[in-house]
Amino acid sequence: MTQVSAQRVAGKKALVTGAAGGLGAAIARMLARHGAQVFLTDIDEPTVRAVAHAINTDHGRTVARSAQQNVRDEERWQAVLAEAAAAMGGLSVLVNNAGIGAIGGVESLTPKEWARVMGVNVDAIYLGCKYALPLLKQNPPASIINISSLAAFKVDPDFTVYNASKAAVAALSKSIAIDCARQQVDIRCNSIHPAFIRTGIVEPFFEQLDEQEALRKLTRGIPLKRLGEVDDVAYAALYLASDESRYITAAELRVDGGASAV
Ligand SMILES: NC(=O)c1ccc[n+]([C@@H]2O[C@H](COP(=O)([O-])OP(=O)(O)OC[C@H]3O[C@@H](n4cnc5c(N)ncnc54)[C@H](O)[C@@H]3O)[C@@H](O)[C@H]2O)c1
Repeated sequence: MTQVSAQRVAGKKALVTGAAGGLGAAIARMLARHGAQVFLTDIDEPTVRAVAHAINTDHGRTVARSAQQNVRDEERWQAVLAEAAAAMGGLSVLVNNAGIGAIGGVESLTPKEWARVMGVNVDAIYLGCKYALPLLKQNPPASIINISSLAAFKVDPDFTVYNASKAAVAALSKSIAIDCARQQVDIRCNSIHPAFIRTGIVEPFFEQLDEQEALRKLTRGIPLKRLGEVDDVAYAALYLASDESRYITAAELRVDGGASAV
């Protein structure tokens, strides 16, 4: 059974999207370990259900629930938020983590690919925040955490739409933060900007290149000279979800081994 750590997010009720693996699963596990109830969603239902089940097994009781959700589906957002709030007794944390990438320079990228990536990475966050805000207002202090990327600041021209989408996430997050501040509601909104972390989204690099070549390429611009780990991002999310960060809003939290500074 997981040893329960300091209850840094005790009483928090968090929905995490894209939680079937990678960063989303790590964030959900981290929040649960520190006292939150978590509601995991993903387009991949069997896998997200298994992750929630494993969290509950670790804790010896139900702290995690799950549901299938395609974050591009507006009606599904409304239904899932209602389900999560009913199951947990409210909603105080929203982690918009689901995201996808696509390879292509501006000329090779098709409009269909552009729309697909912007739909998941940007439109879905707008929808999630739009429909979660009324629930978050009922459960202050509340926190929205949007997973952006180092790509918001440093672009690789082969990832045109990914770069654009992650820069949009940063600006969207700040807009929401300031909108909440001017309404004087106790809801903070921040973005997290990870550099490379070995999850499903990065795996194609390792499939295309040999292990050492992939590692060399991915760590080239990173002063700490190593990839990040999922818990490096999960700890950042834990801090932003907790009331320890109560004066932090409209921030771009870089979890990038120093990459954006050079
Ligand atoms: N891994 C990295 O190096 C890295 C770096 C910077 C930012 N990010 C961002 O972190 C977030 C999580 O990515 P990850 O690294 O864990 O990758 P991942 O591919 O392991 O996880 C993404 C998850 O999102 C889910 N998903 C995809 N489309 C969806 C949809 N339409 N609706 C619901 N769920 C959907 C997938 O099923 C998957 O479980 C993404 O927003 C990604 O852009 C990752």
